[in-house]
Amino acid sequence: MKKDLLTLFDLTRKDLDLLFEETDRLRHDRSVAPLRGQTVAMIFQKPSLRTRVSFEVGVSQLGGHTTFLSQESIGIGTRESVHDVALLLSRYCGALVARLFDHRVLVDLARFATIPVINALTDLSHPCQVLADLYTVRQYGKLKPGVTVAFIGDGNNVANSWLEISGLYPIRFILAAPKGYQADPGIVQRARAAGVSSIEIVADPQEAVRNADVVYTDVWTSMGQEAEAERRRKAFTGYQVSEALMRAAPADCLVMHCLPAHRGEEITDAVIDGPRSVVFDQAENRLHVQKAVLTALCSQNHGDQAQGAER
Ligand code: CP
Ligand code: NVA
Repeated sequence: MKKDLLTLFDLTRKDLDLLFEETDRLRHDRSVAPLRGQTVAMIFQKPSLRTRVSFEVGVSQLGGHTTFLSQESIGIGTRESVHDVALLLSRYCGALVARLFDHRVLVDLARFATIPVINALTDLSHPCQVLADLYTVRQYGKLKPGVTVAFIGDGNNVANSWLEISGLYPIRFILAAPKGYQADPGIVQRARAAGVSSIEIVADPQEAVRNADVVYTDVWTSMGQEAEAERRRKAFTGYQVSEALMRAAPADCLVMHCLPAHRGEEITDAVIDGPRSVVFDQAENRLHVQKAVLTALCSQNHGDQAQGAER
C-alpha cells in the first residue's frame, strides 16, 4: 500500500521519530541511492525557491531524477482532469510532489495516484516545512516535551501544520493572530482532540512570547492573497516580530521564519539577521528532512507501481 504525506496528521509519533533518525543519517551519508532509476514529478501551481530546489537536489542526491511541471505546462484541472493527471504520472514516476492552491485537489491527486503524493504546500498546510522546523528545534537541543512555540501573525498554512505536528509531539503552541486571521478551525479542533499538546489562542503577541523557546512568524500575505495585501498590512499592525517584541521574549529563544520573508512587515531586518535567528538552518533542513520523507515513502512503494500492460 502506498503512503502519502498530505498533512502531518498522516504521520504517527513513531513515523516522526524514525524520520528524524533517518534525517540524521542522511545528513552525513551520501552513499545511499534509494531512488536510483526513479523520477519524481513536481507539480507546482505557485512560485517556489526552497521547496523546488531542496526537492530537486534531494532527489538527485538519492540517485533519482525530477521532472518539473508548471501549471502553465500541464493545466491540472483545466487542460486535463486531476484524475487523468494522477493516473498518467503514476505510469511514469515513482512519486509526486505537488504545490497547489486548493488542498482538495491534492487529496484527489493522492486518491487517484498509485504512487506516493507529497504536499509541497497548499493553502491549508505545509507539512514538509514544519517537519524541517521541528527538526531544527531538535538540532538546537530545544526539543523537549512542552517546548513553547509562539507563532505570531497569520494563522495560515504554516501555522496549521504546527497544529498538525502538535498532535504528534507534545509542545505548547501559542498562536497570536488578529481576529479574522486565525488558524483553520477544523485543524485546531483535531489538534486539540489529539490530546498531546497544549494549544492556546491569544490576541497579544507580548503575552505569547513571554516564555517562548521559539518565536515563529510567516508573511502576512501568502501566495495567492496579493490582492488583500493592503487590508492585511492594516489588520496585522502590532504583530510584527521586532526588537521591541523580542525584548519581551527569553534571551535564549530561537527566531524562526519559513521564508520568503517580507522584511519590514512581519519581521524586521534586525531580528531576522540577529543572533537568535535560525532561518537558514531551517531552510537547509528542508533538504535533509525531505530526503528522509522520500526514502521512507518511495522505498515502501518500490515495485508497487501500476504496470498496465502486464495486468
Ligand atoms: N519555505 C518555502 O516553502 O519556501 P518556497 O516558497 O521558496 O518554496
Ligand atoms: N504562508 C506562505 C508560506 C510560504 C512558504 C505562503 O503560503 O505563501
